[in-house]
Amino acid sequence: MRLTVIGTGYLGATHAACMAELGHEVLGVDVDPDKAAALAAGQVPFHEPGLPELLAEHTASGRLRFTTSYAEAGAFGDVHFVCVGTPQRADSEGADLTYVDAAFAAIAAHAAPDALLVGKSTVPVGTAGRLAQTYDTEVAWNPEFLREGFAIEDTLRPDRLVFGVGSARAETILREVYAPVLATGTPLVTADFPTAELVKTAANAFLATKISFINAMAEVCEAAGGDVGTLAQALGHDDRIGARFLRAGVGFGGGCLPKDIRAFAHRADELGVSLGFLRDVDAINMRRRDRVVELTRELCGGAVLGARVAVLGAAFKPGSDDIRDSPALNVAARLRLDGAEVNVYDPEAMDNARKAFPLLGYAVSAEDALRGADIVLHLTEWPQFRALDPERAAALVNRPNIVDGRGVLDADRWTAAGWRFRALGRPAPRGEKA
Ligand code: UDX
Repeated sequence: MRLTVIGTGYLGATHAACMAELGHEVLGVDVDPDKAAALAAGQVPFHEPGLPELLAEHTASGRLRFTTSYAEAGAFGDVHFVCVGTPQRADSEGADLTYVDAAFAAIAAHAAPDALLVGKSTVPVGTAGRLAQTYDTEVAWNPEFLREGFAIEDTLRPDRLVFGVGSARAETILREVYAPVLATGTPLVTADFPTAELVKTAANAFLATKISFINAMAEVCEAAGGDVGTLAQALGHDDRIGARFLRAGVGFGGGCLPKDIRAFAHRADELGVSLGFLRDVDAINMRRRDRVVELTRELCGGAVLGARVAVLGAAFKPGSDDIRDSPALNVAARLRLDGAEVNVYDPEAMDNARKAFPLLGYAVSAEDALRGADIVLHLTEWPQFRALDPERAAALVNRPNIVDGRGVLDADRWTAAGWRFRALGRPAPRGEKA
């Protein structure tokens, strides 16, 4: 089939490459000529394992091309996927639909009468219905659930496909697009527009709630002397609860969960339904960042003014160079404002971090960040940080203080090497040298 993918950011670039991988002829469309040219040359402007290779393969074969022209896209495609961003609005918690509306208007002006316009962006419920009423060309909604770092896997081998459709024709077209994925037994849920839109927002709300639930338990553990790691392990053995997304720590960030739960609560308010618990989910999440700042102050003797702080991690999660709403950088920036000298290291996100937080210090390696530090904060769980040797690390720092904001370091090993070790939701290890 001939598909276009409108908006070639994180979601669009991945979707375009994966649709080519499925055997379709794909034209990526972006209003930014530099972005389109870079992708056409096989350059991916963000870190996503496997994507550069996929892009190179399919641009070289000619199956995947990029353009800035909606006229070209309209003439080319049978199906147009809209993959533009829906950031948080500047003036409220709601989603900014400027890019979605502009993309639909532009492609609808050029699409063939029997084309299908398929939204993939995460939108407030009601958007698909509104767009379907606005344009003569048929609209469908097909939400994505891809995780950064696993985007290709999640697109080619998803847990499920969701088609929000208003006709049997739209369903048939989408089945044809995804035929190779469906052939492997991927579950398909066909729904009306509002349900399809809600699947995405509900899924992200559930995941965020699960993380904030365990982080609230971490707060209780801190007050009562319990250990949230052991608690999560025990809870996770219950199949009804499940062990995934129960990792307590400095909380969730990124370009999706934080903004999506705010937009969902906001949209629910508009519909007269209170999803106030999502505001608690958000608040618990933000309090974990406060807690890291508080622990840092405590370990620095009450104030961080003049303290040298090594921050391990800048990306919002490992496997990504995305720093949007990153807990690590939020904590780093706050300590810098409090007068600490902060040195950040991240294996992938240094350029993005430097651009967004030019006043922070940046190290060339984890060891370099540790050199002379009064305290080390482990805030993104990259494997290389877990592999640090506590004895060698102790020889580099000025004072052996560490806060494990991700709950993955071995407290006993670090303590045995002479470190004062603190982790969120866990008691201070026994046998610590004061
Ligand atoms: C998320 C959803 O998982 C995905 O389905 C959706 O399409 C987009 O949003 P992503 O933002 O890539 O994907 O990251 P994810 O792997 O879900 O992690 C989100 C955040 O939660 C990260 O900051 C991560 O560190 C944090 N997290 C995750 C925890 O703090 N604890 C956990 O147990 C799991």
